[in-house]
Amino acid sequence: MCCVMFMIKDHLEIRNNHLIIGSADTAELAEQYGTPLYVTNESRVIENFSAYREAFPEADIYYAAKANASFAILRMLSREGAGADVFSYGELYMALLAGIPRKKILFNGNSKTDFELEKAVELGIRVSVDSQDELHALSKIADKSGKAAEIAFRVNPDVSPKTHPKISTGLRTSKFGIPSEEVVSIYREASELPGISPCGIHCHIGSQILDTSPFKETVQKMMDLVEKVVEIGIHLEFVDMGSGLGIPYKKGEPAPTPQDHADAILPLFKERTEALGISPVLILEPGRYIVADTTILLTRVNTVKKAVKNFVGVDAGFNLLIRPAMYDSYHHVVVANKASSPPEDIYTIAGPICETGDILAKDRELPRVEKGDLIALLDAGAYGFSMSSQYNGRPRCAEVLVKNGASDLIRSREDVEDLLAKQRLPARLM
Ligand code: LLP
Repeated sequence: MCCVMFMIKDHLEIRNNHLIIGSADTAELAEQYGTPLYVTNESRVIENFSAYREAFPEADIYYAAKANASFAILRMLSREGAGADVFSYGELYMALLAGIPRKKILFNGNSKTDFELEKAVELGIRVSVDSQDELHALSKIADKSGKAAEIAFRVNPDVSPKTHPKISTGLRTSKFGIPSEEVVSIYREASELPGISPCGIHCHIGSQILDTSPFKETVQKMMDLVEKVVEIGIHLEFVDMGSGLGIPYKKGEPAPTPQDHADAILPLFKERTEALGISPVLILEPGRYIVADTTILLTRVNTVKKAVKNFVGVDAGFNLLIRPAMYDSYHHVVVANKASSPPEDIYTIAGPICETGDILAKDRELPRVEKGDLIALLDAGAYGFSMSSQYNGRPRCAEVLVKNGASDLIRSREDVEDLLAKQRLPARLM
């Protein structure tokens, strides 16, 4: 049989009517590992990280672990020289274990526990402080242990990122950050507190941003604050502008690249820092851009039902990919075992969860779908597995990493025992 091969998205191909990722046939992967299955293309992770590094050669790139904290991915990025934005002790623990140097980790979060602050102090991790309360708690903890905690403040720059409201994080009404008008006074207070050494400033305005103008506005507003903070004698070693660069989930959707991001902010950042006579390191914290398009979620068709619509019932639901239910987000669908067959009908891909909102994709034109077919949801690498749950008594699925046609299991499939693993029965219920 002749081998017909063409590209479907940058790093996904079709060969003999099958979807191919990292030169591996998705139908074979589904046979070998079962479904549902997350499949990540190793080379694509590196390509995406390299694109950021090349666009910002002088900046430090701190990968946002929340996007996908699978250990193999953290390890790969650690080897590439990435730092990490972590949002919990769990992410910190994994980032350190993956080999990311402690000096290249920023502990973010709007509601850290004392335990988390103690760990940051003990391990010498920089903290992005989100409130005055947190500042006081950290000062006490660091002072007690005779150490100085290096900190930044997370600033709320009040910028609209022009994205989904649930993932806008730098609006005035958002729960994150110190309001701009309080920034100078809190740096002043911090510089006088025991155990606290302010050395950076931080913000993050949101995610899935498809227009670079909010990034530029953020730099403008942040540099206005930097100027005031420097004026009161604070030495800023770093300015962390967060991230939020979006990706084209829909075919042909215009999306900026890391180079566009760099072109939008670097000239202004350079101009403003030079004018102030300072040379802080620029930090960026991309998550989605690094991992989103590296991964597909493979799910098997259990049922096809003709009702008011054609419902395709698959074995993955919002327990494994919550983005469509939570943000109405779009993930492109390919029938992985009929990847080049012509579309025949319109289908809605429904998960197995007992909720009306458990729809993974609405009204898609697809080849004829039948029981046993394999559906691939594309661009599922960011906030996919990392937001999964065991809802409805569904053990989480496996993850595999593919490279040059070979595959490795990087997370085993959970089984029903995992549903009970941490549960205990009081003696009276035995
Ligand atoms: N830095 C901070 C402080 C953040 O809060 C975030 C994301 C990032 C970096 C990474 O942003 P990215 O480059 O990935 O846009 N679950 C949502 C996205 C939530 C983003 C939360 N913060 C989704 O699935 O769209």
